[in-house]
Amino acid sequence: MDKMTSGILESRYTQDEIVRKYNRIAPVYDLFGVMMESKARRRAIEMVNIRNGEKVLEVAFGTGLSFVEILKRNPDGWVDGIDISMKMLRKTEKRAARTGRRNYTLHLGDCRRLPFENETFDVLINQYLLDILPSEDFIPILLEFKRVLKEGGRVVLVNMTKGGNRINRIYEDLYKLRPPLLAGCRGILAQPYLERIGFNDFKREFVSQCGFPSEIITGLKRLPH
Ligand SMILES: C[S@@+](CC[C@H](N)C(=O)[O-])C[C@H]1O[C@@H](n2cnc3c(N)ncnc32)[C@H](O)[C@@H]1O
Repeated sequence: MDKMTSGILESRYTQDEIVRKYNRIAPVYDLFGVMMESKARRRAIEMVNIRNGEKVLEVAFGTGLSFVEILKRNPDGWVDGIDISMKMLRKTEKRAARTGRRNYTLHLGDCRRLPFENETFDVLINQYLLDILPSEDFIPILLEFKRVLKEGGRVVLVNMTKGGNRINRIYEDLYKLRPPLLAGCRGILAQPYLERIGFNDFKREFVSQCGFPSEIITGLKRLPH
């Protein structure tokens, strides 16, 4: 284990198990998503500062809670979304249809093989995905994110994180005991992985909601000046 991954607990599920799990919990996911994650999700969208007219990708859109916010901020741009769970995709389809917008496509697929050309997007948003996946997959996935971002493109990652106060750390203790209680997520620190593959200009914020600890990290794909 190197310095980057030290302290990050092992993920508990295979990718097939994750798909089955998220298909199963799609109908009730919003409860968890709104109660514990809505603050960080909202702040991430503010921090990445989507400008109307941009090309935006959301990876792992889940039930579409952020996807519809992105659509609202980008009426003259284009938004793609990708998620591996068909049940999540169906929920997001309904939510996005209610916005009345048509400037988007939802894709079913794996973040490890994004079905987009190199340098397609101005902004890539990814929330609460890496914290359920094995840490050895982080670099290949983030390289894929980097590939589809334009030079100068912005990434924002939101994940359950480590640290904070004693209450925040209860969630990590719960994961050790009964991972299903937390939809399989454990605390991670994503910035060192982004640094390793050449993102820069980072901003990091820590958000606690109902004691659930999240980190928001924004970074830029560009050569350091
Ligand atoms: C914890 S949920 C987060 C959903 C949403 N981003 C949010 O913040 O509410 C994780 C999502 O990642 C999706 N997912 C899991 N593995 C994936 C993969 N390899 N590629 C794309 N999506 C994946 C799941 O289907 C699920 O919708």
